[in-house]
Amino acid sequence: MSTSQKDKVVIFDTTLRDGEQSPGATMSHSEKLEIAGLLDDMGVDIIEAGFPIASEGDFRAVSEIAKNARNSVICGLARANFGDIDRCWEAVKHAKQPRIHTFIGTSPLHRAIPNLTMDEMAERIHDTVSHARNLCDNVQWSPMDATRTEEDYLCRTVEIAIKAGATTINIPDTVGYTAPVESAELIRMLINKVPGADEIVFATHCHNDLGMATANSLAAVEGGARQIECTINGLGERAGNTALEEVVMALKVRGDIMPFSTGIDTTKLMNISRRVAAVSGFAVQYNKAIVGKNAFAHESGIHQDGMLKNAETFEIMRPEDVGLTETNIVMGKHSGRAALRSKLENLGFELGDNQLKDVFVRFKELADRKKEVFDDDLVALMRTTSDPESDRLSVKSLRVVCGTDGPQEAALTLSVDGEDRSTTATGDGPVDATFNAVKELFEHDARLQLYQVHAVTEGTDAQATVSVRLEEDGKIVTGQSADTDTVVASAKAYVSALNRLLVRREQTEVGYDIKGVGYKDVS
Ligand code: KIV
Ligand code: ZN
Repeated sequence: MSTSQKDKVVIFDTTLRDGEQSPGATMSHSEKLEIAGLLDDMGVDIIEAGFPIASEGDFRAVSEIAKNARNSVICGLARANFGDIDRCWEAVKHAKQPRIHTFIGTSPLHRAIPNLTMDEMAERIHDTVSHARNLCDNVQWSPMDATRTEEDYLCRTVEIAIKAGATTINIPDTVGYTAPVESAELIRMLINKVPGADEIVFATHCHNDLGMATANSLAAVEGGARQIECTINGLGERAGNTALEEVVMALKVRGDIMPFSTGIDTTKLMNISRRVAAVSGFAVQYNKAIVGKNAFAHESGIHQDGMLKNAETFEIMRPEDVGLTETNIVMGKHSGRAALRSKLENLGFELGDNQLKDVFVRFKELADRKKEVFDDDLVALMRTTSDPESDRLSVKSLRVVCGTDGPQEAALTLSVDGEDRSTTATGDGPVDATFNAVKELFEHDARLQLYQVHAVTEGTDAQATVSVRLEEDGKIVTGQSADTDTVVASAKAYVSALNRLLVRREQTEVGYDIKGVGYKDVS
């Protein structure tokens, strides 16, 4: 079947909204713009760029993404009140193709939060969707927790939203409870029962709490949905969302059985997956479908013989279909900037001149310490979460004393808002001493929730990638860094997490909390 004969499924990416909402995944302004650019380039139909009412930062990011968008529709999220919707419109209106996405929780548990009766909520839906539609002719409405909403009430609210002007109705499985057969049946039922359903697009939005998000999304398409909501690497609250790369590749590989096409250039998947892992601080697990390090590893493993005779014996897709290229150039200290750029491009990283300058300096430092710089070393370098333009703290120097006789000691100099501060602290081991020194130089109450170290390659000169997760008043942030010196990587990862925490503090100054869902200002 040719692509033109297939039904088109539109891809709605919410990495920058639902994905960024995931604890510890805060991205900086420039990172959000970069990811939006990559999504647009890859052919994503709709980018949910953020939640404009949430903070000044979110508003600025959505507005700028809207201004820069080339082909994608740019969407912003708004709760069911006029204040949210107006703010959302102010941000997305700059796009060539803007969309307002407004939602309210319709299940019994969610109705209880704003304490609305069924009738009051129905009226609220009518008022808010009509208001959004008066501002924008592309309006999406979501009954949050749809899969736990009474069927009759769900039909009633969907009908109201359609009549009020919604052009897309999204059916979220907010808590990741549903199963594939039910997911298909729910969409089918809505299409059959709700008047006006044939004039709008149904979307599916699945969370992965039971590991069924991708299967549920594909089943919803079988049931009649024509928009899949998803995130890169499945990033998202709790266990995450449907992974974009999984649904897109499933529709491509199973094209004969599921005759649906997307407009996604799949050769860009690996690149964007790596970039999202780098900026979010959420590494991709090795055995993750499509984009995990081992997803094509059978090439050099036990299946090698069959693979050499006919790759299709063990492969349902080729590495190059997802943008994985084989290159063997090992980089070293004599490699120049052009070679680094080309190598990074092969690995899927397309960098602007300023970014390349920064990475080149770090690459040279690494190559001075390590004879051979492998692909994985470069990926780790790219995953280091620092943004010289917005970071308030950085590690200037560190010297530790460690060994069998304690106390271990760390002499640290940090740059804090451009001013150098130094101290010496002791601790239970060199990492503890270093973290104590950071706390002395920059006081904070954040609690260390996770400290993780991985060796990037083999050998005693291997880089260590360190992840640090901090929590302060319910805000969770993650920082990552890589270095051949594990203690230096630890200090940098800690400082990177603190930089993210400072961004989060600013974002929450206005008191935003999606779970608090402020329904009050409807007028
Ligand atoms: O999971 C969910 O219900 C959501 C809504 C805001 C659409 O993300
Ligand atoms: Zn969601």
